[in-house]
Amino acid sequence: MNIILCGFMGCGKTTISKQLHELLSDKFSVVDTDLLIEKKLNMKIKDIFKEKGEDFFRQAEYEVCKELSKNDNQIISTGGGALTFERNAEVLKKNGIIIFLDASFETVCERIGNDSSRPLFKDKTSAKKLYDSRKSIYSAVCDFKTDADEDVYTVSQEILKKINV
Ligand code: S3P
Repeated sequence: MNIILCGFMGCGKTTISKQLHELLSDKFSVVDTDLLIEKKLNMKIKDIFKEKGEDFFRQAEYEVCKELSKNDNQIISTGGGALTFERNAEVLKKNGIIIFLDASFETVCERIGNDSSRPLFKDKTSAKKLYDSRKSIYSAVCDFKTDADEDVYTVSQEILKKINV
């Protein structure tokens, strides 16, 4: 069984995955779909979007999701768009619990700050539109959601209480 974290950019997927890994390290490994894509293509996400386009990135993301679904006992931190594509949700759901880290738009803006490495978070207006359009998708695809405005420790404990591992 895999533990899959989804949610908007800046909701804390990477941070929470690392914290969960610390708490469960003997049982689970931790992986990040964006890092795997970067490693596979030997390019930064920002450059993949710029030089190859979003469709190319989404295809690589799908390949990575398929590969990850072949293994168990992983904590998977997904890119913010990954679980908004049905094909990714379909493969990951087979052997995974999907957890939506539900953070408010204010929180994600605070956490992202001035980081310009995210091609789909260029300005607050367009990011808010994307945020609003995705919220219901994450809610529908997840097994449960958790309030990700809370601190890392609280969010991780909430998750552990619910997943029973
Ligand atoms: C994306 C989120 C990013 C990364 C890519 C696309 C998205 O990951 O996968 O830039 O569509 O929301 P993070 O959520 O880790 O920033």
